[in-house]
Amino acid sequence: MCGIVGYVGAKEKKEILLDGLKELEYRGYDSAGIAVIEGNNLNSFKAVGKLENLVQKAKDFKADSFGVSIGHTRWATHGKPNELNAHPHLGKNSYVVHNGIIENYQELKKELIAKGVNFLSQTDTEVIVHLFEQNALDKEPFDAFKSTIDRLDGAYATLLITQGAPDTLFFAKNGSPMLIGFDGEDIYFASSDTAIIGKAKEVYYLEDGEYGYAKDGKVELFDANGKKSFTTKPLSSDKVSAQKDGYRFFMEKEIYEQTTVIADTMMGRVLESEIVLDELDSDFFDGINAIKICACGTSYHSALAASYLFERLAKVRCDVEIASEFRYKKPLLSDDTLFVTISQSGETADTLEALKMAKRAGLKSLSICNVDNSSIVRESDVALLTRAGIEKGVASTKAFATQTMLLWILALYVAQERQSISKDLIANEIDAMRHSPKVLKVTDELHAKMHRLSKRYLHGHGFFFIGRDIFFPLALEGALKLKEISYLHAEGYPAGEMKHGPIALADSNLFTVALMPKSLLYDKIKSNVEELSARDATILAISPLAFDLADDFVQTKYASHPMLEFFEMMVVTQLLALEISVRLGNDVDMPRNLAKSVTVE
Ligand code: G6P
Repeated sequence: MCGIVGYVGAKEKKEILLDGLKELEYRGYDSAGIAVIEGNNLNSFKAVGKLENLVQKAKDFKADSFGVSIGHTRWATHGKPNELNAHPHLGKNSYVVHNGIIENYQELKKELIAKGVNFLSQTDTEVIVHLFEQNALDKEPFDAFKSTIDRLDGAYATLLITQGAPDTLFFAKNGSPMLIGFDGEDIYFASSDTAIIGKAKEVYYLEDGEYGYAKDGKVELFDANGKKSFTTKPLSSDKVSAQKDGYRFFMEKEIYEQTTVIADTMMGRVLESEIVLDELDSDFFDGINAIKICACGTSYHSALAASYLFERLAKVRCDVEIASEFRYKKPLLSDDTLFVTISQSGETADTLEALKMAKRAGLKSLSICNVDNSSIVRESDVALLTRAGIEKGVASTKAFATQTMLLWILALYVAQERQSISKDLIANEIDAMRHSPKVLKVTDELHAKMHRLSKRYLHGHGFFFIGRDIFFPLALEGALKLKEISYLHAEGYPAGEMKHGPIALADSNLFTVALMPKSLLYDKIKSNVEELSARDATILAISPLAFDLADDFVQTKYASHPMLEFFEMMVVTQLLALEISVRLGNDVDMPRNLAKSVTVE
């Protein structure tokens, strides 16, 4: 959450900062701001809402002499999304941007107020700049910066510039991502490399506890042991930026893309008669008796679906935990467990911290991730990349499809290595995998149907998405998609559990989206839906089999394998959420209050 950029050099700074922020806007769009110091000139601009508002506000500003500059795009944690709370935060003559949470900010704030400091915002961040300026009263700027970060508890990636040292940019990282880009004398900072691709040629990914400063075309780096040397890596110059390509929304494009990206996920991995995972050494699963998966949000739902597959195909005990729960439960971990994290961004703070905990406990780790070089990929023993391409829609679609596919591949790989199921069954799974791209193709007919249906589902007192087995996680995901972009209340529920409470809500204003696959527990879910229908709930049934009691019915086509039914029904629920959101006039790609990458806990 929150994206930060920085630049030290003589190039025009506004465009560099705004360009970088554009790439980071997925991390939050409550407000954005930039600050530039060029010698005696100190300028800053802030605007509430999307980056475009800042672009307009700063349109006549230019900064093309040597100087230091920082920028920020915010997802509000402390204080409302207004201009006062927008970064960069100004002290007397210094500016700071920050991504993370300063946990002891109240204590620091009290201390600073007692010294006569006046606070303008409700943010935790503002303490950094005031503390720095207090320290700078009797210290050199770098020592003042070091004393400042020594006092901070919590997670931060922070950049600070000051008129006290107008040629220097100070930085520190602990818990939130940050990297430094280099191109000759020009030095760039960013939360993610996408913000500096095409500008910097080399990159260094900062580690937790590192801090330092950039000055005279050089970076001095320090950690708890003092000054340290570092080596950079080449940064690809190919700027792969996603375009809408004629679709109304990124999310819509990403739903349509699923048919091709899933084929990329499988490429070189799902062969005609075997599964190959080059990333894994042949002894990778030796000594592993259990799998624990940790993830958040949509990635958690793919983890839940995978847990059925690991147990059913690979015959390995598998349990799944929400990363933020796992972190504080003092979990009992044993080193015969493979610790799997799933993350689209590779930066989710809770998932990353869960991974670090598991590593500290000596567990082997594997991540399923969409972003190479992300923190989670770098932290894991092995990473399998989902290859979904850039996902821009905040509501995740193609990332979920590719994660689920890759987990299915992984489960089958373990089954194959351990011979836990017969060769015929493996062949059957592979055959189904190879049909998946076709199943994910969105037809005009289906999209038109979901458009028509959506108008009946704009009111009511809530939605239940119900399913059994792997269709329960899919129900959770369908409900989450709807919540995220329509702001309507929706719950995913195991169909068999409805009678233990939720059925009390049933009446004609309760909309139930029933996932009724033919190939898995059809009769069981059918009875559950009948129970709801008998109580007048409005039923939208998604099934290959006609269902008389449904008020609305979407007939699916592929009934030969549960995973094919899973993928086909997934597309139906994604289109339903999309069309409802469009009818309600919501911002489909950047829904209120959300961010694509959540780097605070
Ligand atoms: C945010 C996003 C979700 C995503 C979740 C986990 O909440 O809005 O779409 O599922 O983070 O993100 P990750 O990048 O770890 O998959």
